[in-house]
Amino acid sequence: KRTLVVVGLASCLAMTGTSGLAAAPQAKPAIPTIVVLATGGTIAGAAATDTQAGYTSGQVGVDQLLAAVPQAKKLANMRGEQISNIGSQDMNDEVWLKLAKRVNELVAMPDVAGVVITHGTDTIEETAYFLNLVVKSKKPVVLTASMRPSTALSADGPLNFFNAVAVAANQDAVGRGVLVVINDWIHGASSLTKTSTTAVQTFMSPLRGLIGTVAYGVAEFYRGPVGKHTFESEFSLDGVTSLPRVDIIMAHENMDGALIDAAAAAGARGVVVAGVGNGNLTAPAVKALAAQATKGVVCVRSTRVATGLVGRNVELDDDKLGFVASMGLNPQKSRVLLRLALLKTKDAKEIQRYFIQY
Ligand code: DGL
Repeated sequence: KRTLVVVGLASCLAMTGTSGLAAAPQAKPAIPTIVVLATGGTIAGAAATDTQAGYTSGQVGVDQLLAAVPQAKKLANMRGEQISNIGSQDMNDEVWLKLAKRVNELVAMPDVAGVVITHGTDTIEETAYFLNLVVKSKKPVVLTASMRPSTALSADGPLNFFNAVAVAANQDAVGRGVLVVINDWIHGASSLTKTSTTAVQTFMSPLRGLIGTVAYGVAEFYRGPVGKHTFESEFSLDGVTSLPRVDIIMAHENMDGALIDAAAAAGARGVVVAGVGNGNLTAPAVKALAAQATKGVVCVRSTRVATGLVGRNVELDDDKLGFVASMGLNPQKSRVLLRLALLKTKDAKEIQRYFIQY
């Protein structure tokens, strides 16, 4: 004889006290997936002692970087990939093209919310601006670095990394272009520049200001970046295996045209002059630059001065000479934009539009 126990739904409810389902444990809010791409730099550097100035960049791998900041696991599910492990003074086109390709692959993946890139400080502004022009997504791509190696007394890398993950995981970072997070400040890729060889507060955005700040993972955004970027950009690396040569030449007292002519002879398809004042140079140098412009070398006047726009036709007649004015871009970023522009055109007027819009 078998006893059939029929427990009515009501009594089930009484037992579980809910809708009949065992009370689900409070689900933790889902945290986003962030992929960390490591390229090297001092953030991955090491020194023999914690107080010596000398150190070697690119000594620590991406897994060690992730392991060094376990607190970041509360902010995001992370996985790391090693793109390179170099001091960024050695940054090169091969790494740039590999990095840009991988970022675009990752941001196209539905489960990836954003990307953090660890990098050296020497050329981070160039890499960030390059990615700002070729990444095709609104998802956050955040670069970070450090001025002191991981072995240093008061190393700045771990908190910079934590904050970079926090910004990349922050929904408010979406659509603000490529960002650089260093020392509690959130910079736009087109605006930041390195201003000190040693200070941790080295990065400034002197002309157009910060995008926001982040303190112990809590970010505040003030504004978007100036200029077109990422998902709005008309530049693409599809099918690109090399970038045109563009050289930068510093203007100075008593300058002649020798280096301008040498750049063209070396195969430069563009020349950026880090001019004195508002992108100025001596008469002999102007003559040499104009001669190269007539031969099809695209010539951009930028400035060695820390802030201020370089406008068209101020002390030089750009219309007559065929020059491009760099507007808000410093020489190293002017070179980045000009290299990508030369993939599309060598028309100075069209390239001037790029400098006005990007
Ligand atoms: N070694 C230089 C670089 O990798 C500077 C150090 C740093 O990353 O701050 O950019």
